[in-house]
Amino acid sequence: MRQKKLKYVSPELLESQGVLMNIEPLELKSVPTFLEVGSGKGLFITSLAKDNPECVYIAMEINMNICYRILEKKLALNLDNLIIILGDAENLLSYLKPQSIDGLYLNFSDPWPKKKHHKRRLTAPTFMEKYVQILKDQAFIQFRTDQIDLFDSSIEYMHQYIKMEKIDYHLEPSKYMTEYEIRKREIGPIYQLIGKVEHHAKENI
Ligand SMILES: C[S@@+](CC[C@H](N)C(=O)[O-])C[C@H]1O[C@@H](n2cnc3c(N)ncnc32)[C@H](O)[C@@H]1O
Repeated sequence: MRQKKLKYVSPELLESQGVLMNIEPLELKSVPTFLEVGSGKGLFITSLAKDNPECVYIAMEINMNICYRILEKKLALNLDNLIIILGDAENLLSYLKPQSIDGLYLNFSDPWPKKKHHKRRLTAPTFMEKYVQILKDQAFIQFRTDQIDLFDSSIEYMHQYIKMEKIDYHLEPSKYMTEYEIRKREIGPIYQLIGKVEHHAKENI
């Protein structure tokens, strides 16, 4: 995702506005809690947080300048139920307790087309192993992309970790779309899969 370096954005500014930057466990309330990894500029997660004040949303973004765009939206909308983490999904298990999350959104994750980079994909098995640990039993993973190669590979990666519920090769526009989705819809189809975590099924294998 492109975002110019913003001269006025610094770690201190983000931290002073409540963005979490240290790798430490989050204390969550016992309310439905949803995570988006690689939130980009945050249109999707801030819209969900605005419409569902009874739930908690967590936006995780690795790039400081992009993360600032999420913060701007959080402040403009006064979202007390949105937690922003400036951090790497690699460290997910250090932020979140086991079985603490009700649903995970992965939207337009970087495709990393070269084979030698596939392990960096946010749907790759090493990330899936982390996701299933922090997700509750029966929690969902929703993955959306415009990249067919990434989509088909992700079905392969994911099916050993989650029960596939719905695979869509022509997703209709919806109320909750990311900045990327709005742009990519003008060019071609959008793909989406939804799967469910079944901890017991895995234990029985
Ligand atoms: C292609 S952009 C899509 C952004 C947004 N989800 C959208 O659909 O508009 C991918 C985003 O994932 C973030 N990202 C990539 N790897 C990450 C990681 N390991 N942890 C957290 N964020 C990551 C990037 O910085 C970038 O903002």
